[in-house]
Amino acid sequence: MALSTGKLGAASQLRLFERPILAIETSCDETSAAIVVGRAIRSNIIATQVAMHQKWGGVVPEAAARAHVEAILPVIAEALEKANVTIKELGAIAATNRPGLVGALSVGVTSAKALAFGLKIPLIGIHHLEGHLMSTLSLAESPPFPHTCLIVSGGHTELVDVREPGNYRIVGETRDDAAGEAFDKGARLLGLGYPGGLAIQTSAVQGNPSRYPLPKGLSGDTIDFSFSGLKTAVLRLTEKEGSNLCVPDAAASLQEAIVSVLVERALRAMDQLGSRALSIVGGVASNVSLRARLKSACDRNGFDFYAPPFELCTDNAAMIGLAASYRLARGESDTFDLDLFPNADL
Ligand code: KG4
Ligand code: ZN
Repeated sequence: MALSTGKLGAASQLRLFERPILAIETSCDETSAAIVVGRAIRSNIIATQVAMHQKWGGVVPEAAARAHVEAILPVIAEALEKANVTIKELGAIAATNRPGLVGALSVGVTSAKALAFGLKIPLIGIHHLEGHLMSTLSLAESPPFPHTCLIVSGGHTELVDVREPGNYRIVGETRDDAAGEAFDKGARLLGLGYPGGLAIQTSAVQGNPSRYPLPKGLSGDTIDFSFSGLKTAVLRLTEKEGSNLCVPDAAASLQEAIVSVLVERALRAMDQLGSRALSIVGGVASNVSLRARLKSACDRNGFDFYAPPFELCTDNAAMIGLAASYRLARGESDTFDLDLFPNADL
């Protein structure tokens, strides 16, 4: 796709689908439906299952699927109503079909198929990570192509060379746990509950980030990540300090260990790629410390920095609608035998 004018391709030139898209996201523990027209988000309804999974300290796949079954149609109805769009006005249906929990994905994809079949409109399956990546299309000024994207979520930590929409190359990734997982596991060990990211961020506000130095994973010139040693180090710290542990200091130290390595590797990847624009997406992109540190690192280097609004960082259907918008405008769609892929690379 020709996008370039001059050195950087302007995202404003990207052709988008003009009719209302109903987008559905059910890959994990949020049932979400959105109405997207072009790059405008008319509604983005999210029914979260967090309270249910909290008592188990993490997502239970079977329970997640059943909760999606209950929530999916009310959430779709609310998305249509809030957008003031009738079902007959829809131009296409999009759903996350990869990767994710198979039972959870199947609820969204099957609902999307039934609607597209009944309404005789195009159906399109979207990769969850492409959804996160395209969440920045919602910005008044969205990243140019090419740019570098740091995807940081509960299941992924990836540095991506985004050459143009649909043309992605992973240049760095985690070798074990994802950044969000490191927040979640650390929070559990510190007794801060689930989901951990926001709990760590909140506790860290009062804490001293240099009180408990924690390991930063891989050393050397790499742009990969390793967060599993961090979990072990936090466990050791809780055992060593016992009741003397200052939880806010531990939370601030954990956040510092994760944030500093993400900033360092993102800048190194940009250096290697010769990139001048960075975006950050995914649940962990809502971390205020990470956003501030990346922004100032980019400012210091004269790079442009893009982060979606908070509500588009954690899982939501609007981002799936945005990815669908450019793909549908290209004439892409799927047939009714669209499959699910619990594990799928970007
Ligand atoms: O993108 P997302 O909603 O789901 C996945 O695709 O995994 O990301 C969820 C992750 C969780 O690990 C959660 O702890 C983390 O995002 N998260 C945060 C914050 N808010 C959510 N991590 C750090 N700081 C936050 N404020
Ligand atoms: Zn996600």
